[in-house]
Amino acid sequence: MILPIVAYGDPVLRKVGKEIDKEYPQLEKLIADMRETMYNAQGVGLAAPQIGKAIRLFLIDASPFADDEELEEEDRNVLKNFNRVFINAKIVEEEGDEWAFNEGCLSIPDVREDVFRQEIITIEYQDENFEKHTETLSGLAARVFQHEYDHIEGVLFTDKLSSLKKRLIKKKLENISKGKIDAGYRMRFPNAKRK
Ligand code: NI
Repeated sequence: MILPIVAYGDPVLRKVGKEIDKEYPQLEKLIADMRETMYNAQGVGLAAPQIGKAIRLFLIDASPFADDEELEEEDRNVLKNFNRVFINAKIVEEEGDEWAFNEGCLSIPDVREDVFRQEIITIEYQDENFEKHTETLSGLAARVFQHEYDHIEGVLFTDKLSSLKKRLIKKKLENISKGKIDAGYRMRFPNAKRK
């Protein structure tokens, strides 16, 4: 089932997500619905707050990035198979130089800006079977993880822009929260006028 994606301005996007355990109701269905919702919107990641649940769960399928000819063969192979569910994820360490990448977000359609983030991260998480994993990610895999991880911390990529950039997109963000946008997928707008 495709779920409506919560738009910029909804308070749920600002909540710090709660940890979940195996007892979380209908988790399997929630993950399946989130996956369908992500693919329908052609996203490479989707976090639970974006469908209205402030819990520490997000999905990533970065395989579309594997088509980028400019990447090294090794990075392409990593991205091709980077399709996972992350539960109760933590960033243990971030290292390396900051680099810019043009980010977008399904909750903020039609806005893309360069965001600086560190290159390498070490993470801990549980998969959909609640098996624990620890690993190190770099490049685009790290980038997508950092973006989704921010969602479960109540942070959006637009928070990381310069104050000038923030001023320049302010009106656009207001319009998104009012529903004055056609994203091409189902959304829920916090400040839409009732008809
Ligand atoms: Ni996002």
